[in-house]
Amino acid sequence: MITLRPALADDLPYIMELEERFNAQGYVLRDSLETHRERLASPDARYFIGLRDRVPAGFVILRGFAGLHRSVEVKRLAAADPGQGIGREMLRLAVGAAFAHPDTHRVWLDVYPENERARRAYRALGFVEEGLLRECEFDGQRLRSLVIMSILAREYRG
Ligand SMILES: CC(C)(COP(=O)(O)OP(=O)(O)OC[C@H]1O[C@@H](n2cnc3c(N)ncnc32)[C@H](O)[C@@H]1OP(=O)(O)O)[C@@H](O)C(=O)NCCC(=O)NCCS
Repeated sequence: MITLRPALADDLPYIMELEERFNAQGYVLRDSLETHRERLASPDARYFIGLRDRVPAGFVILRGFAGLHRSVEVKRLAAADPGQGIGREMLRLAVGAAFAHPDTHRVWLDVYPENERARRAYRALGFVEEGLLRECEFDGQRLRSLVIMSILAREYRG
């Protein structure tokens, strides 16, 4: 059984370890400890640890709660054991938490086009592909594109 709990500052080393692992595999970017500390303390963001039978199994970071646009971004998501449905379930719970906030109208994320596992998980949860930001990110070696995906409140509730 997968549950989410709010992350604490003590969880940042765990989050950064997963970021480092999946950054090396080309799936996610990563942030410095300082950036994480600032974001964690901000009312704009929510950090969650995914628990499987009460043991940490990944993390989800949402942000955008303090913005004008009622649009919440899934800033980062990683399951420690990909391909087991755990990340998908963590995201399902995080989307529920985002839409539990009465102002939230849209939940969105970006994903590298070649991350087929992630795109399948997001589509299965009702996220719609909106388009491709072509060669928008330079990682120091190559230019990468990003697919934008979202789910609207009426789609989530419908
Ligand atoms: C992306 C992620 C959150 C998806 O969550 P997940 O629980 O692992 O996803 P699932 O196990 O439900 O798999 C999703 C789909 O991909 C398929 N899949 C599993 N492994 C796969 C692989 N290596 N390649 C392609 N598809 C794969 C699954 O069969 C499933 O297909 P289905 O929809 O037909 O059932 C998780 O894999 C993860 O954290 N990956 C590493 C970091 C990352 O990519 N983060 C997201 C960045 S946008």
